[in-house]
Amino acid sequence: MADPAEVDQEPFRTFGDPLHPSSDQLLSDAFPEMNSNQPDSAILPVQTKSKTALKKELRFQKRTERCKINRANEKLRRKEKLLASRKRMQAASTPEHPYVSRRVERRMARDKLTKALTEGVRLCVDMSFEELMSPKEIGQLASQICYMYSSNKKVEKPFCMHLTSLKQGTKLHEEVVKRCPGFDNYKIKVFEDPLEKVFQKEELVYMSPDSPNILERIDPSKVYVIGGLVDGTPKRQVSLSRAQALNCQSVRLPIAEHMKRSASHGNTILTLNQVYEILMRFNETNSWEQALDACVPRRKGFTVNGQADTPTAEEEDKTDVLQEETNRETITS
Ligand SMILES: C[S@@+](CC[C@H](N)C(=O)[O-])C[C@H]1O[C@@H](n2cnc3c(N)ncnc32)[C@H](O)[C@@H]1O
Repeated sequence: MADPAEVDQEPFRTFGDPLHPSSDQLLSDAFPEMNSNQPDSAILPVQTKSKTALKKELRFQKRTERCKINRANEKLRRKEKLLASRKRMQAASTPEHPYVSRRVERRMARDKLTKALTEGVRLCVDMSFEELMSPKEIGQLASQICYMYSSNKKVEKPFCMHLTSLKQGTKLHEEVVKRCPGFDNYKIKVFEDPLEKVFQKEELVYMSPDSPNILERIDPSKVYVIGGLVDGTPKRQVSLSRAQALNCQSVRLPIAEHMKRSASHGNTILTLNQVYEILMRFNETNSWEQALDACVPRRKGFTVNGQADTPTAEEEDKTDVLQEETNRETITS
């Protein structure tokens, strides 16, 4: 690789004046046979390119040189930054938290995911709602699958991830492959078959914001199903109807039980990856407060009990309404 310091001097060695010479000056330095006082016609027989073309060429050469220098400097800067951060991490390394290189870290993450495929709690995204989504929503769903997978790679106790009803040749499959780099090597279980053909209905626990039942704890013998649906304008009870059609258990997240209304707007319908994050954090901490506080966006109008200011009378009314909803049957799943 060229030494950036050397490259830096190159334009000035070639064209003489280090103090930004005029383009005419540069032209006559670069092409001495060309006298800029002569009309263009006089120089054409010697120099076939016009003066404008030569100026353009010169500008292009200067720009290329500048880019080369910038690239070399940037590469050097990145290398120095990496070395400095590696040194810092090595210095901070302790027997309890030893320094681990990025390569080793990646290998450990893959090993953890491989282990999760046989030992992790099963989590499935039901990809059977393609016809309910616009092309844009299908793309968003594919991106959410990608976020879920990359979160699953980073956690201490990854889930054993499944996708069902993901058929080759569909727009949804195409988007998933496009938006999830290396999808074919993902450590997840992918099925063209629907949920009901892959699992026993007794082991299914369908997550639905409209369910009358509350998820209290995670049972490792169950399969937790998230509806693979992005609906800009929420379609009511889609996941609940699907659970009813499958004749399997349904549950909702205990948001109203562990959080209070802090705004008059908002709802408890979360995106797939938010639901995934909550389940994942709960699986690690066993605390709904921690999991919900970290993952329910503030704009949803909820804060963890005891954390926000005292609610107004209006907020308290709403909390009561939410609380009433929770007085329905509670299922331990
Ligand atoms: C964007 S939501 C789709 C909402 C859709 N209207 C429905 O009826 O399912 C995507 C999925 O996340 C899960 N989900 C979202 N909010 C939830 C909540 N509060 N409790 C349980 N599951 C939830 C459900 O599985 C849902 O199908």
